Amino acid sequence: MAKYVIKKSLPLEGRVRISGAKNSVLPIIAASLLTDDVCVIDGVPSLEDVNIICRLLEFLGSKIDVHGDCLRIDNGNIKNTVAPYELVRKMRASFLAVGPLLAKSGEVKISMPGGCAIGTRPINLHLKGLAAMGAEISLGHGFIHAKASKLTGSTIYLDFPSVGATENIMMAGTLAEGQTVIENAAEEPEIVDLANFLNAMGANVKGAGTDTIKIDGVNFLKGANHSIIPDRIEAGTFMAAAAITGGDIFLENVLIDHLKPVEAKLKEAGMLVEEIGDGVRVKCVKPLQAVDIKTLPYPGFPTDMQAQMMALMCTISGSSIITETVFENRFMHVSELKRLGANIKIEGRSAIIEGVEKLTGTQVKATDLRAGAALVLAGLCAEGTTEVVDIYHIDRGYENFADKLRQLGALIYRED
Ligand code: EPZ
Repeated sequence: MAKYVIKKSLPLEGRVRISGAKNSVLPIIAASLLTDDVCVIDGVPSLEDVNIICRLLEFLGSKIDVHGDCLRIDNGNIKNTVAPYELVRKMRASFLAVGPLLAKSGEVKISMPGGCAIGTRPINLHLKGLAAMGAEISLGHGFIHAKASKLTGSTIYLDFPSVGATENIMMAGTLAEGQTVIENAAEEPEIVDLANFLNAMGANVKGAGTDTIKIDGVNFLKGANHSIIPDRIEAGTFMAAAAITGGDIFLENVLIDHLKPVEAKLKEAGMLVEEIGDGVRVKCVKPLQAVDIKTLPYPGFPTDMQAQMMALMCTISGSSIITETVFENRFMHVSELKRLGANIKIEGRSAIIEGVEKLTGTQVKATDLRAGAALVLAGLCAEGTTEVVDIYHIDRGYENFADKLRQLGALIYRED
C-alpha cells in the first residue's frame, strides 16, 4: 500500500499551478451523456475519480480519448444504461450519470451509491426531484431503476441545498418538457461551471449560482467545448500549507472569488492573501491567531476545507471551535491528528481545538480525501517523520500532490 513519508519542512516557498476542479469535471463528464455529439473538455485534472467516471462512461458505450489535460468524449454509441456496482461503489459521483441517462435514454439502472467515511450520503433529494419530473423509480437488490419516456418540468424544493441533487435535476431538466425550477438550489461555483457547459450544448439554464435555478427544456443538445474552472479546494489546501509552515507561496490559476470564506479566515488568522494576475500570493506575515470556523453550503465556509483548517488550528496557540454543519460524520481526522499530539475535543457537531507547542510525527492514516490532505499538512510541521497511509484517498482528488508540495520545498516522498 502506498504511503507518504513526510519530514518537518522549512517554510514553503515558490510557485505552484492549481489544477482543474474535481467537483466540476465530474458532473461535466456526466453531462456529456446528454448529447450524441462529441464534447471536448480541457483543464481536466489527472485524478483517480476522473478515471473512474471515464471507465463508467466507457462501460456504457462512450469513446473517450485523452490528450494531456484534454478529454474528447464521443457518446454517439451509448448502448447500455446499467451502471454496475463495482464502478459506482468506488465513487458516489457516478450517481451523477442518472439525470443525463434518464433524460437522454429514458431509462437508467444504477447501483445504490455506498456511504463513505464522512456520512451515509443519502440520495433522497436526487430521487425526489426526478420523481417530481415524472420518473418511475423502483429500488431493489441494491439497484435503483428509473424510467421516464419523457421527463416533464416541475418545481422542486430541495430540503438541503445538495450539490449533487442540484446537478442531477439541472441536467435532467435540460431535455424535459417545459420548465424545471429548483428552489433552495446549491450555489457552488461548480454548479455555475456545469450550467455554462450545458448552455454551451444548447440548454437553457438560468440562475445557476443563486438559490433558484430555472431550466427550460429543449429537444436535443449538441456537443460543446469547455475549460474546467480551477479547483478552489486544492487552492485552499495549498494556502493552508503555506500557513501551517509559515511560508510565502504563489498559486497560479486561482479564481479568488471562489475562495472568499477561506481567504477571510486566513486573513483573520494573520495571513497575507493577495490576488496578483491569475493567481494569489499567500504569505505568513506574523504569528497566527486561532480562529473559529463553521462550515456551511456555498457561499459559506466550505466543508471540504474543514479538515485542513483544523490541522492548522492545532498548531496555533489559543483555542478555536470548528463546527461541521454539512456532513454528519466529518471528524474522522480528529483521532489521527491526536496521534500527532493535537489537543482536540469533539462536542456534538463541534470540535474544540487547543493549539499545542508542537506536533510529533508518527504513522497516521487517511480516512477520506480531505482528512488525508490535512494529515499531510500536519506532517509538514510535526517534529520528526510522519507517515500517512491509505493515500489512495488523496489520489482521488489531488493531482501530483507530493510533487507540487516538493516544488515548494516540502520534504515529502511517496513510497509505493
Ligand atoms: C459534493 O458532494 C462534493 N462532491 C463534496 O466534495 C462536497 O463535500 C459536497 O458536495 C458539499 O459541498 C462532488 O461534487 C463530487 P451534497 P455531494 O449532496 O453532492 C445531504 C470532496 O471532498 N444530502 O451537497 O454528495 C448529505 O447527506 C467531496 O471533494 C441528503 O440528505 O454533497 C450531506 O449531509 C466530499 N440527501 C449534505 O446533503 C440527498 O439526496 C450535502 O451533500 C443529497 C445530499
